[in-house]
Amino acid sequence: MKIHLRVWRQSGPKAAGRLVDYTADDVSPDMSFLEMLDVVNEQLIKKGDEPIAFDSDCREGICGACGFLVNGRPHGPDERTTVCQLHMRRFNDGDTVTLEPWRARAFPVLRDLIVDRGAFDRIIQAGGFTSVNTGGAPDGNAILIGRDTAESAMDSAQCIGCGACVAACKNASAALFASAKITHLALLPQGQIERGARVLDMVGRMDAEGFGSCSNEGECEAVCPKGISLRNIAAMNREFWRALLEK
Ligand code: SF4
Ligand code: FES
Repeated sequence: MKIHLRVWRQSGPKAAGRLVDYTADDVSPDMSFLEMLDVVNEQLIKKGDEPIAFDSDCREGICGACGFLVNGRPHGPDERTTVCQLHMRRFNDGDTVTLEPWRARAFPVLRDLIVDRGAFDRIIQAGGFTSVNTGGAPDGNAILIGRDTAESAMDSAQCIGCGACVAACKNASAALFASAKITHLALLPQGQIERGARVLDMVGRMDAEGFGSCSNEGECEAVCPKGISLRNIAAMNREFWRALLEK
């Protein structure tokens, strides 16, 4: 297949960026999307040009590093699929595919398709942890948790911190991400001690980082590669008001 690429090139956080056209020849439908970019980059390096910078780590959809916009959609056209799990068989010979980094004030572009998602780390640092000593695995297993509660907590814990929810939201809200972390811990016994402080601190950090508010549009849920539900945002709002009233 021949694929025409329009790629956002930006040499640094303060540099101006622009879309640059490339052509990827002899693309196999069995290639992953990032393998196709690897081949394009090998050709750029041979010509003495700068390769296209993109982030990736696991290539298994579990680390959250790889995300960018593919034809305007975070992570590309496949539901519940990260860019690193996307394959070229999803595209047709002769297609034009536009690649851009996440667009959000709280995610500044570092280079080409890579953004700084440090704001997510700082939200976690504000309260996304438990400081209860639960001991080793046998002690942890001695705390009985109902099956439905455990399943719900695990569903929320699926969030990989990729930032697609922010990129899809017209308000660049981080509500789906933060609510997944808050709900996961609020459901478990180990998360009870800091429950109130956690939601207040994490929501406060989210606002301070420059993310927008949630206006219940649902784009975040639609593009989330891990199927994080909007119900987490409703749960976060309940947690928030409960913490304020108990303060
Ligand atoms: S909620 Fe979904 S889209 Fe948002 S950071 Fe987590 S995994 Fe990514
Ligand atoms: S490289 Fe880890 S989720 Fe894509």
